[in-house]
Amino acid sequence: MASTPEWLGAIASAVKPQVHRLVPYVPGTPIIDVMAKYGLTDVVKLASNENPFGPAPAVIEAIRAAVPEIGLYPDAGAVELRQALATKHGVQSDQISVANGSDELLQTIGYAVLGEGDELLIGDPTFLRYEPQAILNRARTVKVPLRDDAHDLDAMLGRITDRTKCIMLCNPHNPAGTYLPDGAIEHFLEAVPKHVLVVLDEAYYEFVDHPDHGRSMALALGQPNVLVLRTFSKIHALAALRVGYAVGRPYLVRWIEQIREPFNVNSLAQVAALAALRDETHVQQTLLANRAGRELYTQTAARLGLRAVLSQANFVLFDLGRHEQPVYEALLRRGVIVRACSGMGLPGHLRVTIGTPEQCDRFVREFEVALSAPAGSG
Ligand SMILES: Cc1ncc(COP(=O)(O)O)c(C=O)c1O
Repeated sequence: MASTPEWLGAIASAVKPQVHRLVPYVPGTPIIDVMAKYGLTDVVKLASNENPFGPAPAVIEAIRAAVPEIGLYPDAGAVELRQALATKHGVQSDQISVANGSDELLQTIGYAVLGEGDELLIGDPTFLRYEPQAILNRARTVKVPLRDDAHDLDAMLGRITDRTKCIMLCNPHNPAGTYLPDGAIEHFLEAVPKHVLVVLDEAYYEFVDHPDHGRSMALALGQPNVLVLRTFSKIHALAALRVGYAVGRPYLVRWIEQIREPFNVNSLAQVAALAALRDETHVQQTLLANRAGRELYTQTAARLGLRAVLSQANFVLFDLGRHEQPVYEALLRRGVIVRACSGMGLPGHLRVTIGTPEQCDRFVREFEVALSAPAGSG
């Protein structure tokens, strides 16, 4: 192997050591790559928990109408959007910070609170964007294994130390899809010491239909140390435009506002999010289809003798009981992209987004065929 040239070593030493420890995020395989690789024309992607119906027509219209204005910088304060979100959640607009996806908020929060010697407490496995915030800020990640496919809140409480600065918790959980009822969250938030910032990441909040659901925002706002994250990427189908937001006490939100980029949410994203908030019908249609799809996936697993984790999100985690790569690749060859979970710390699992009814049927058909792919390490 060729040795590292001296100039590369020199410039590499200018980069912070923790940057060398980071690995770029691996997203779901793009449709275009699968088309090119397998010579397919009809490929469906069920790998990134997107809304398969796309945005509401009114949202597309609002984006079109705003296109001539893109020569101007967007509203740096996202005043109208923050006001609309404040009204929706019954808070003041200084309790809302909007961002270029909740991903940006995770990074801003990590920067605000984590430093050398600090601890970030997370589940294991969990959403892949939490741990990098610790690495980037030279903090230590403390990982607490799931119990029954869900965050083990009692075990997490037991791992809090004087050094714990932040807990990042997704509810529903990604990639498991499990949901912790409000009663459990209430007990947890009350028990966490107030020197720890809790980030309650509710990217899939709207998909939940558990009876003990709907109080988490009030519970979070009742505490001095909790930020709730929501996103327009999932139920509102604006993943490409990147809009997420944080809700919390004004001082917590101000710290985010002090750090964030001035024009972090572009003008098309702002008008699209506003229009999406007004379109409850589209949300309800998506929810109906999502429930039916969840049911179909769960029944399919039972019929095929596989374990599926009971989901309250817009995806289902299948436990194949064997290495998932051959099945994942067999599905790709048949034009269905799902998520292989070894890279998320769940070998032997596939995470599959709920698609349109047609996409769900297609997945079920192709899954059955793909399962007969020879086992091995593909
Ligand atoms: C749990 C969780 N949090 C946050 C995000 C990021 O959402 P956004 O598109 O708003 O950055 C995702 C995206 O998949 C997610 O699953």
